[in-house]
Formats: sequence, structure tokens, C-alpha cells
Amino acid sequence: MAKVKTKIYNDFCPQALFLYGTKQEDGQPHFGLFCWFGYCHSSEGLGVMACIGEEKQTKDLIRKNGVFSANLVSEKLLPLADYYGCTCGRTTPDKMKYLPTVERGQVLDVPTIAESPVTFELEVKKSIPMGDGSDIFLCLIRNVTQDERLMNTTVPFTERLMQAAPVLSPGEETYSSVDGRYLGKWGEPMKNMANTKE
Ligand SMILES: Cc1cc2nc3c(=O)[nH]c(=O)nc-3n(C[C@H](O)[C@H](O)[C@H](O)COP(=O)(O)O)c2cc1C
Repeated sequence: MAKVKTKIYNDFCPQALFLYGTKQEDGQPHFGLFCWFGYCHSSEGLGVMACIGEEKQTKDLIRKNGVFSANLVSEKLLPLADYYGCTCGRTTPDKMKYLPTVERGQVLDVPTIAESPVTFELEVKKSIPMGDGSDIFLCLIRNVTQDERLMNTTVPFTERLMQAAPVLSPGEETYSSVDGRYLGKWGEPMKNMANTKE
């Protein structure tokens, strides 16, 4: 295998997608789509590193509240998630006219998505400004909720992973399933928004 030097990017290194849920000042939920998400560990337990680029409503609300949820995007949630990722909250006051089933976190006061197979409730412990408008939020996972069907350990893990059906963003602004099916380009699945309440 010959390897060639390429530009600095992360294509072929698939990232799972998450909808970050925050509470607005009037108590209404807000959601945005994110993939710059990784895990870390400290003496307090498992944590999350979330990088948010330029200023946006999700970042305003995370800064203000110090807590948010991260809801794993499943194939079923993809059209709505794509809409949340391609619609700017600051300039679209009615962005939240489409909503999933929203529940309150079990431990933190954050909006969570019932249809998401896995939800983290996150408390920000530290934010690191990168100096160019990007910020990294280091968070502790205060609670995890999971679709009860994923708890059945008599079913092999890979089968349960297929049931969870997380969506990946593997590169070139595309979406993919965990078993390698092409799910469209960013901005395409939102054209097929069904199962959403207006
Ligand atoms: C597939 C996908 C992944 C994204 N990942 C990130 C990310 O990790 N960090 C980020 O700052 N923006 C990311 N975005 C852009 C935000 O979703 C976008 O800025 C959106 O408007 C945020 O919602 P808000 O404006 O309501 O806060 C992503 C967009 C898409 C389509």
C-alpha cells in the first residue's frame, strides 16, 4: 500500500452526529447538529469534548446555561437533524417550528429527544477559546439514557448497533449509515421531512 500526502482533513475518519439540545430564555427547546465531538476521561468520570465553530445560537445557549444534551442522530432522525444543521438559529427565529418529541433530562434541566437512541446530559466544566472564533467545551457526562431495546445483552452488540442506526458523517459533506449505505449529502435529507410536528 502506497500512501500519499494529502490536505489536512478528516475524511475517511467517520464521525457520529449529535443534536445538541439547549433551553432558550423562554423555556422552549433549541437544537443544532454537531459532529466535532469526542470523549475524554477525568477522575470524575467519562466526559465529552465538543468543538463549536463560529458564533451561533447553540453556543450562546451553552455559554448561558452551562448544560446541554447530546442526542445521537439515528437514520429516522436524519431529515430533522439535517434541517437543524442547515438552518441558522440566530437568523431564523422560527427554526424550532419543527420539533421531535422533547423530554426534560433526568438529571439536568436540558431538553432531550425521545426518538434518539442514546442521550447524554452534559455539564460544561471548562471552555477553551481557540482564538479564531472556535470554542472547545469540556463536559462531564452527568447522565446517559438509552433505548431500552439496546439493553438486551442476549442480542449481539453489532445487531443492537444496527438497531440504534447512528448516522455518520464520513467525509465530503455526506451522510452514511454504520453499515456503509449512502444517506445523502448535507442539505438533502431535510427535503424529506416526515414524522415531524409543526
Ligand atoms: C453534518 C453537520 C455537522 C455539523 N457539525 C458542526 C460542528 O461539529 N461544530 C459546529 O460548530 N457546527 C457544526 N455544524 C453546523 C451547525 O449545525 C450550524 O451552524 C447550525 O446552524 C447550528 O444551529 P444554531 O444556528 O441553531 O445554533 C454542522 C452542520 C452539519 C450539517
